[in-house]
Amino acid sequence: MTNTTTALRWHAPGDLRLEEVHVRTPGVGEVRVRPAYVGVCGSDLHEIVDGPHAIPVSRPHGLSGGRAPLVLGHEFSAVVESVGPGVEGLAPGDRVAVEPNYRCGTCAACQSGRYHVCEHFGFAGLMGDGGMAGLAVLPSYMLHRLPSRVDLAQAAVLEPAAVALHATRRSGIGAGDTAVVIGLGPVGLLVCLLLRLRGVQTIVGVEPSEQRRALALSMGVDHVIDPSRTENGPADLVRKLLGGGATVSFEVVGHQSTFDMALASVRSGGTVLLVGLAGGLHFDGFAAVNAEITIRASVGYNDCYPELIDLVAQGQLDLDPFTGDMEPLADAVEVLNDLARGRRQGLKTLIRCAGADIGASVPTVFTNVSQVRT
Ligand SMILES: NC(=O)c1ccc[n+]([C@@H]2O[C@H](COP(=O)([O-])OP(=O)(O)OC[C@H]3O[C@@H](n4cnc5c(N)ncnc54)[C@H](O)[C@@H]3O)[C@@H](O)[C@H]2O)c1
Ligand SMILES: [Zn+2]
Ligand SMILES: [Zn+2]
Repeated sequence: MTNTTTALRWHAPGDLRLEEVHVRTPGVGEVRVRPAYVGVCGSDLHEIVDGPHAIPVSRPHGLSGGRAPLVLGHEFSAVVESVGPGVEGLAPGDRVAVEPNYRCGTCAACQSGRYHVCEHFGFAGLMGDGGMAGLAVLPSYMLHRLPSRVDLAQAAVLEPAAVALHATRRSGIGAGDTAVVIGLGPVGLLVCLLLRLRGVQTIVGVEPSEQRRALALSMGVDHVIDPSRTENGPADLVRKLLGGGATVSFEVVGHQSTFDMALASVRSGGTVLLVGLAGGLHFDGFAAVNAEITIRASVGYNDCYPELIDLVAQGQLDLDPFTGDMEPLADAVEVLNDLARGRRQGLKTLIRCAGADIGASVPTVFTNVSQVRT
């Protein structure tokens, strides 16, 4: 069994290195995998531009034991290479999606099933070694076996899809309701796809990028708005299109201005759901109280992967629009630096690692959209 692998490691802001690193054999409850596809996330780019934000530098993370230099990549699929003692239900050759959050299993949040807000919260790929490597060692609880109809590239998109599914669950939205989704990046577009599956009646998307607005329309979003091109502001148009405002406004950008837009777009008694990561936000308390607006936050995900894997396997959720841009691990330093400096754009870039050559799968057949369980 080999003890080294090639990995993309963050050493410091602007200092990424593709290098040979030691990789241990899996211990009790651990699995060693060959990563297949690894999505590049905005949070990876923040670490490259002006980190560290989440990456531990001086003290190792409590659960992972990891600190810089650290292997990036938290949105990934893989093929099992070997399993450690005590691991059941996984065997070499299994194709898996990685749900990358560490959990202690004993804090109050973990005990109540809310492991995504564990006291020792962290992600493989940010607070411990992640997927941009030839081999990775992970706790077995992170791994979900994939049916043959889910391909490994789509499986790398399950992580942002889980963020989106958790947000739609947190919003309490249901069939016949209306929604505005502000920000149509990968997460916003995935929110739109999942809202459609939930039977939401009308979905309005707000997004400055023409390409992303066009993609949203092709995914079944009813109306799209360019925020820079409305006479009285996008919220006014949303209220007109939705007869008084949205049941739920999803804020998926992370700015004060888009938070204001979300509040101004929601109907009386409705909900503003915060997904975008912003610092200090302020709002008009009178307006929010008088209209009984609920403001809720959503972070990460819990128990979302099984439902998403079923949806993809049944052909109800098409993640292919997010898998078009792939680059090999050998070029990852240049690709990530270009993305971080805005020299390269695209909806989602996937880094292709050695596991992609091993895991074969059967193409998904898409059927008509129907509702998912709530
Ligand atoms: N809560 C969580 O658990 C969680 C998880 C992942 C990402 N996030 C956050 O969600 C947000 C979206 O993530 P993403 O990966 O889709 O990022 P992204 O940057 O690709 O998408 C943001 C989109 O917002 C658009 N936008 C910018 N200004 C706008 C405006 N004034 N009006 C409308 N749209 C505007 C951008 O053009 C872009 O398409 C980010 O803030 C990210 O940090 C939160
Ligand atoms: Zn991410
Ligand atoms: Zn915990």
